[in-house]
Amino acid sequence: MALIEWTAALETGIKVIDEEHKELVSMINDLHSAGASKAGAEETRRIVYELDRYVKTHFVVEEEIMRTAGYDKYLDHKALHDEFRARVSRLKQDAEAGELEMMGAITQFLKRWFTQHILYVDRDYIETVLGKKK
Ligand SMILES: [Fe+2]
Repeated sequence: MALIEWTAALETGIKVIDEEHKELVSMINDLHSAGASKAGAEETRRIVYELDRYVKTHFVVEEEIMRTAGYDKYLDHKALHDEFRARVSRLKQDAEAGELEMMGAITQFLKRWFTQHILYVDRDYIETVLGKKK
C-alpha cells in the first residue's frame, strides 16, 4: 500500500500545481517502497536526488504563481518553502555521504510535511490564484 494515497482533498484545482503535487507524492511513495523493500542504497539515493531537484523546481513554480497573483501571504509561504528546501538539501547531503538512516522516520516526516502543507498552507492561496477573492 502506498504511503500517501492521493485523494480529492489534496487537490487545489490549479492544474499545474496538482500535477506537480501528484508527482511529489509519487516520489515520496517510491522512497518509502525503496526503503521498505531494502531495494538498496543506490535506489534510495537516486530517489532522494530526484526529490531534491523536483521539490526545488516545484516551489519555484508555485512561488511564481502566488507572486504573480499578488497573494498577500507570499513571503510567509516562501519562508516555509525555504525551511523545507534546506531540510531536503540536508537529506541529499546525508544520501551523498551514505548516511541515510531511519528511512522510516524520514518518509513519515515527508508525508506529514507535504500533506499538511497541501491541506492547510497551499489551500490558502487558491482563492487568490483562481481570482475568486474580492
Ligand atoms: Fe506551498
